[in-house]
Amino acid sequence: MSLEAIRYKNGRLDVLDQLQLPLKSVYDHVATVQDGWEAIRRMKVRGAPAIAIVGALSVAVELQERNFATAESVSQFVSTSFDHLRTSRPTAVNLFNAADYFTSKAASLAKDHPEDPEKVKSALVEEIEAMMDKDLKDNKSIGEHGSSAIATRTHAPTRVLTHCNTGSLATFGFGTALGVIRALHEKRLLERAYCTETRPYNQGSRLTAYELVYDQIPATLIADSMVSALMQSKSISAVVVGADRIASNGDTANKIGTYQLAIAASYHNVPFYVAAPSTSVDLNLKSGADIPIEERPPDELLSIQGIRIAAPGIHCWNPAFDVTPARLITGGIITEHGIFEPSQLAEKLKSVGD
Ligand code: MRU
Repeated sequence: MSLEAIRYKNGRLDVLDQLQLPLKSVYDHVATVQDGWEAIRRMKVRGAPAIAIVGALSVAVELQERNFATAESVSQFVSTSFDHLRTSRPTAVNLFNAADYFTSKAASLAKDHPEDPEKVKSALVEEIEAMMDKDLKDNKSIGEHGSSAIATRTHAPTRVLTHCNTGSLATFGFGTALGVIRALHEKRLLERAYCTETRPYNQGSRLTAYELVYDQIPATLIADSMVSALMQSKSISAVVVGADRIASNGDTANKIGTYQLAIAASYHNVPFYVAAPSTSVDLNLKSGADIPIEERPPDELLSIQGIRIAAPGIHCWNPAFDVTPARLITGGIITEHGIFEPSQLAEKLKSVGD
C-alpha cells in the first residue's frame, strides 16, 4: 500500500489510481499530455495541488520525448498542451495558475533563446520538476503554521474535524489540512481526528481514512450527516479543510459539503480554518460568486462502485464543490506564508510577492 500519489523519476511519470483505493494500489503510466488530462478528468489523481503537478509533469514528460525544430515550436507546444489541460476540471485554480505561469515562461524563454530549442525545453522541464519539492515544502510550512495556531487557540489535546481528502494523496506529500492534522499528531497535541465520509465520491472514507490509518493517527470516520451532532456532543477544537479556489475576498470553493460544515462550526463556536498553498488563490476573482463549480456525472450519486443505489427514474444534481463565504472562515486561511484573515489574504499575498 502506498501514500505516493505521484511517482516521477528520470522523465517517467506514474500516478496512483485513486479510483481503486483503498482496496488496491495500482500505478498508471502517464506518457503524454492526453494521459495526464484523462487521469485528472477521471479523478485517478485529484486534489487541487496534485492535479496541477500531474498536469504540468505530463507536459514535461512529453516535452522530453519530442524533437522541436525551433524554440517557438516548444513554446507553441507548451501553450497548446496547457490549454488542453485547462479543460480537464474547472474548479481547482492551481492547474490554471501553473498553466498561466509556464505558458508565459515558455514564451519568454523562446524569445531569449530563439535558436536553442533544447535550452528552452530543459529550462522548462527543470522548473516543472521543481513543483514537487516546492509543494512538499509549502505543505510542511502550512502544517507548522496551522498546528501552532490551533494549539495556541484551543489548548491541547485537540480534536480536529476535516472533510474530503487533503493529504499526501491530494498533493506531492504531507498534505494541507491533513498536513495540519499530521503536524498536530507529530507534536503529540492531537487527541483525535474526525473525518467525514464525503459523499458522493467518498474521498473521506476511501482516502483520508486510509491515510490516517496508514500513519496510525487516532481517527474516527463519520457520515456527512453527523457533523452537527458531532459538534454538539463531542468537544471539537477546530475544523480544518482544504481549498480548490480562494477568491480575493477570501470566499473559498472546496469539496461539496464544506459550506454546511462551516455553518455548523459557526453555530457551535468551533473555529473554522482553510489550509491551502498560495497557488490555490485566484486574485482575478473578486468573490466566490465568480468561481466555476464543476458538476460531475449523476452516476457518482446514483451508484456506488457500479451498483445502482437510487430509485430508477429520479433526477439528481451533483455539484462537486461549494463556496464557503469568507465570514464563516473564523480561524483564518493557513498558507505557507502564515495565517491570514480571509479579508486580508489578497493584500498579504501581494506583499509577499513584491
Ligand atoms: O474532487 P476532488 O477530490 O479533487 O476535491 C478535492 C478537494 O476538494 C480538496 O479539499 C482540495 O482540492 C484541496 S486538496 C489539498
